Amino acid sequence: MTRATVDDLEISLPRLRARLDALAELGAIEGGGCARLALTDDDRLGRDLVVSWMRDLGLRIDVDEIGNVVGTWPPERTDAPVMTGSHIDTVATGGRFDGTLGVLAGIEVLETVITSGVELAHPLAVAFFTDEEGSRFAPDMLGSLVFAGGMSLEDGLAVRAVDGALLGEELIRIGYAGPQPCPARPPHAYVELHIEQGPVLEAEAVTIGAVTGVQGISWTELTIIGQSNHAGTTPMSMRHDAGYAAAEVASFVRRLAADMGSPQVATVGRIELHPNLVNVVAARATITVDLRNTDEELVGVAERRLFEFCDELAEREGVSIERRSLARFAPVDFDERVIALVEEIARARGLSTRRLPSGAGHDAQMLARVCPAGMVFVPSVRGISHNPAELTADADLEAGANVLLHVLLRLATDER
Ligand code: GLV
Ligand code: MN
Ligand code: MN
Repeated sequence: MTRATVDDLEISLPRLRARLDALAELGAIEGGGCARLALTDDDRLGRDLVVSWMRDLGLRIDVDEIGNVVGTWPPERTDAPVMTGSHIDTVATGGRFDGTLGVLAGIEVLETVITSGVELAHPLAVAFFTDEEGSRFAPDMLGSLVFAGGMSLEDGLAVRAVDGALLGEELIRIGYAGPQPCPARPPHAYVELHIEQGPVLEAEAVTIGAVTGVQGISWTELTIIGQSNHAGTTPMSMRHDAGYAAAEVASFVRRLAADMGSPQVATVGRIELHPNLVNVVAARATITVDLRNTDEELVGVAERRLFEFCDELAEREGVSIERRSLARFAPVDFDERVIALVEEIARARGLSTRRLPSGAGHDAQMLARVCPAGMVFVPSVRGISHNPAELTADADLEAGANVLLHVLLRLATDER
């Protein structure tokens, strides 16, 4: 096959769409979204379907000890592959594109390459990683973190879900505790296609984002212990109200982000009160704080200010506040050669492109620890994500998958 013929290859949008639609039926929720929390029965159904597609293509399928699944072409090749992928788990109120686009576009790219007969210097692989979302088992990107050696297998298997389940036991239960060792051998390179999940590309009418890196993230769970008491008889001055303290933290983090300014963001996404009754002062509140910034030092500043506020609040309200770190990842820079290659391929295909950092966490940031890594973003309609209404236009899905195809082809046909 000549270079020119290789450059003309295109993915099939109808095939990609058909797989996106079929996967979206598993764990479907109202509004067109999906609930496939990591290692639940619906996640298993999703995994089984994606594995069946990998098998149909004749890929070698490897499942590792933390449940990551890698499909490789040609199946007999065991040297380091040029890898793509993402995740198929979702948040409980997720959309149909977050993660699944990267995995299913990867499968589509492999199908295009296999049917074209193009000769590869490096094998190609498509992976889906366990528990990228982290909303059932923290931290997020757990499977790719263990894959890249950033967390021991033992620690990963011992993580408890918010519902009390043990990650290692859930992997066995759904049949995805595989034999391949983790950490894994590093790929030759890793490139992931993902929806932007933010508003920048749409606002600027740009089709392809060349992702420069991922911002730093800090997740803390706070357990606030007060005293339950009668809502009618307890004078306001005598309360140790865990619910009130939780609300104070939520309003503090909003002020903190405003005070620090962009790009600092801060979110209280989960509040659980006990006993959670109309006429009882709450005895206990468990809440989560998500802090993110592109500057590592500023992530530290935000954390310190939060913790100081908690100490002062505990003293003032006569409650105790325990902290547990759920996730802490420094900002990551992607490989300059991969970023430039994404831009070059987009331009060569007549697509508008710009560089931008990622606000969301991604498996690519873990792979960046062990190999040259990068990402391709496509626009999210109205910047909406982690919401059933998540949407990316067909033309953008097609453009993104074609850029992924040619970035991967360039890397996999280059002898280096
Ligand atoms: C992963 O989806 C994240 O929270 O960024
Ligand atoms: Mn994702
Ligand atoms: Mn997500």
